[in-house]
Amino acid sequence: MRRLALALTLILPAGVQAQDAGSSAWDRIYAVASHPRCTNCHVGESGRPAWDDLGYAKDSVHGMNIVAGESRIGAESIPCRVCHISAEGANNVPHAAPQIDEAWRLPPVELAWRGKSSVEVCQQLRHPEANDGFDMAELAEHVRTSAFVNYGFKPGAGRNAAPGTTEELAEDLEIWAAAGTPCVGD
Ligand code: HEC
Ligand code: HEC
Repeated sequence: MRRLALALTLILPAGVQAQDAGSSAWDRIYAVASHPRCTNCHVGESGRPAWDDLGYAKDSVHGMNIVAGESRIGAESIPCRVCHISAEGANNVPHAAPQIDEAWRLPPVELAWRGKSSVEVCQQLRHPEANDGFDMAELAEHVRTSAFVNYGFKPGAGRNAAPGTTEELAEDLEIWAAAGTPCVGD
């Protein structure tokens, strides 16, 4: 394999190589963006956070009838912070409400990824208007500094972490951006 890759490196024009690297980077980005540690928050208009991959039935929504509402923080009913305290915690008690140093809330509706295919999320993320107005450099910066993203990679006891690290995800976003943000079907 390695010899084949080397041979291809010698034959293929640089633009094609960059695009290949961009597509592989995207596949790794999607493996994270489609992970339940991210998609349980990145839900759409229903405003219902999910409880996938926590040992409940497949496609479970948050117990106790929790709805985030238009505020995305549950201001209309029970605020998220009643249980998800805004202070860094070790999160080492399985099934206790996760707590981080940030107001626990759902992202804006445009950032809904749960149940979406690789192509759909790819198209969404490369358009700043579909990701909260962020350009690619800012997205990579968000990933490096967001307490939410950090939680997804280090969710504490009893929860599967998203694959990789925040730094690897940020670097993949940069590789994907440098390759012109390719999506399948371009
Ligand atoms: C607790 C809920 C929550 C979890 C879990 C979560 N996010 Fe988010 N995410 C948000 C919120 C809220 C925003 C909107 C930006 C903000 O307010 O910081 C956001 C925005 C984003 C953005 C867009 C950049 C921006 O600032 O708008 C990206 C990219 C992102 N999240 C990636 C991830 C990834 C990758 C994971 C999993 C490893 C993840 N998020 C897990 C709540 C969450
Ligand atoms: C009454 C307490 C309570 C309230 C209020 C609450 N939660 Fe939770 N939440 C929990 C508990 C407990 C868990 C852990 C479930 C488990 O791991 O089995 C949890 C887990 C989650 C998860 C899953 C995290 C993961 O790693 O998959 C998300 C997403 C979530 N809550 C979002 C919200 C949002 C958004 C709000 C506000 C709209 C909210 N929660 C309000 C108790 C609460």
